[in-house]
Amino acid sequence: MPSPVDVPELVSRTLDLSRQRGFITSTRHETGRLLATLAASRTGTLAELGTGTGVGSAWLASGAAKEARIVSAELDPSLAEDVQKIFADVDNVDITAGDWTSLEGFAPFSLIFVDVREVMEDIDHLADLLEPGGIVVLDDFMPSPHWPPIVDGQVDVVREQWLTDERFAAAEMMISVDASLVIATRR
Ligand SMILES: C[S@@+](CC[C@H](N)C(=O)[O-])C[C@H]1O[C@@H](n2cnc3c(N)ncnc32)[C@H](O)[C@@H]1O
Repeated sequence: MPSPVDVPELVSRTLDLSRQRGFITSTRHETGRLLATLAASRTGTLAELGTGTGVGSAWLASGAAKEARIVSAELDPSLAEDVQKIFADVDNVDITAGDWTSLEGFAPFSLIFVDVREVMEDIDHLADLLEPGGIVVLDDFMPSPHWPPIVDGQVDVVREQWLTDERFAAAEMMISVDASLVIATRR
């Protein structure tokens, strides 16, 4: 899907870090633009689970109001340290080194960007951390023409669960021919 090639300055700096580190699983522009769009509708605290090189946090910050807070956790301490340097002058973004559960003290969240596959399996825990009307964005699915979704001959039970759980209104959205994400809003 085409999108403008220009990106906000902060996003550009995080993409530079991705290149320096050879980190290839950073958020795509299309997903980033969606994150910024959703963040602009949010107040309170937004969370990213799995910071990587900070691309998702930078997109969230580019869309969110200055009064909103963005918190992000990265398991790899050296990666988290590099990203903390990039955001050192950004008052409303905090990068934490540690497991994603270390962010629980900042809940409830108005948006959670989940970018670690295993974490997506913890739907009950994530549902409890959201405020009513809070949005979850789950990245990195392979588009499937089937229901339930099938990938490599197996039902994608995680995606199936998010798209059918009664606590959420949810939709899958293709962001390119080879990638989709799920957006789920807490009732
Ligand atoms: C797909 S990358 C994240 C990309 C990033 N969100 C972006 O926008 O570019 C996943 C990251 O999650 C981190 N990670 C894996 N398990 C984690 C956990 N339990 N808690 C926090 N971070 C975790 C990995 O080290 C990796 O850097």
